[in-house]
Amino acid sequence: MKARLALGYPVLVAAEGPVVLGYGTFGDFRAFPGYRYSVEHSVYIHVDHRGRGLGRVIVDELVAAANALGKHVMIAGIDGGNPASLRLHAQAGFVEVARMPEVGRKFGRWLELVFMQRVLDAPGASRPD
Ligand SMILES: CC(C)(COP(=O)(O)OP(=O)(O)OC[C@H]1O[C@@H](n2cnc3c(N)ncnc32)[C@H](O)[C@@H]1OP(=O)(O)O)[C@@H](O)C(=O)NCCC(=O)NCCS
Repeated sequence: MKARLALGYPVLVAAEGPVVLGYGTFGDFRAFPGYRYSVEHSVYIHVDHRGRGLGRVIVDELVAAANALGKHVMIAGIDGGNPASLRLHAQAGFVEVARMPEVGRKFGRWLELVFMQRVLDAPGASRPD
């Protein structure tokens, strides 16, 4: 988290008083200069506080923060068996661009990774190389 903050990237925390309900953050999609306009985010809401719209608020705030930093594309890497996250991102304007079978493994089975992305400004928008 410190490394992200040092890069000027946000770490957003949803809280009620002293109780942390969830958080979201993003980092570089890939650690090469050619990918510097793309970020990959993560969002997590405590199990007791899901279904209240908090995940959506955090994703929307991350999108706004990435836009403000001049990023072009935001990417979510989602377990194919995670309908909540797939729906959350579809509702927030992300579209599926890749589905990679059996690239992860947990709890004795292979996991599918779904990439969803959202263009933050406009498709084809220009940036310096
Ligand atoms: C995915 C996650 C962040 C969603 O957060 P949340 O605060 O519960 O989501 P919201 O209440 O903002 O709901 C956003 C949308 O997702 C839908 N959704 C939420 N939980 C759902 C579920 N279990 N099944 C299907 N859809 C679901 C909501 O209905 C809503 O869509 P709608 O506007 O069409 O009704 C949360 O479940 C979580 O932290 N999961 C574990 C970590 C994780 O999977 N992170 C994402 C990795 S990229």
